[in-house]
Amino acid sequence: MTTYKVGYLVGSLAKASINRKLAKALAKLAPPELQLHEISIGDLPLYSYDYDADFPEAANRFKQAIADVDAVLFVTPEYNRSIPGALKNAIDWASRPYGHNSFSRKPTGVIGTSPGAIGTAVAQQHLRSVLCFCNSPLMNTLEAYIQFTPGLIDDEGNVGNEGTAGFLRKYMQEFHGFVVRVTTVLPRAG
Ligand code: FNR
Repeated sequence: MTTYKVGYLVGSLAKASINRKLAKALAKLAPPELQLHEISIGDLPLYSYDYDADFPEAANRFKQAIADVDAVLFVTPEYNRSIPGALKNAIDWASRPYGHNSFSRKPTGVIGTSPGAIGTAVAQQHLRSVLCFCNSPLMNTLEAYIQFTPGLIDDEGNVGNEGTAGFLRKYMQEFHGFVVRVTTVLPRAG
């Protein structure tokens, strides 16, 4: 069995983040070929190209963490109909310095949850646009807009509803197939 390391970025800095609960659920429901862990964005300073000649340690660690995984999964809230500033800041760090874009040819997926009925759909469209510019092969479908209702997922990532659990399992199966295809057809080296 070939296994793939998947780093997930949670777009929220909140301690009680419902998107982190979703990420934990995805880690539990993923097929055994995918090994998920969080890549933290919370200790990154605000990006400026003044740092390009000498990145701070937190940013180097972040870029190395992305380099070390086969794929990245974004699990993000929607803030004011876009992605949170903290997540955009993290992507800006990873994309620089010029010529050292961590997302180039790195397979990615996007998912998110919100109490609102459209379940982060607008934020996800913005994020897709950003990742497209970053030259990341991005899974087009399944799309996953999860409306978070009370008790849907607990702090340990247990999903209280078999319909949602089944859908999230299917999402991760699709993501596995996507990562296999991209890394087979479009190897990162060279
Ligand atoms: C929100 N929220 C929100 N929800 C939504 O569906 N669309 C939106 O545009 C926004 N905008 C927004 C802005 C800001 C600044 C905050 C703090 C919140 C509500 C949001 O979905 C809710 O707080 C979730 O709990 C956020 O996810 P995390 O941070 O808990 O993972």
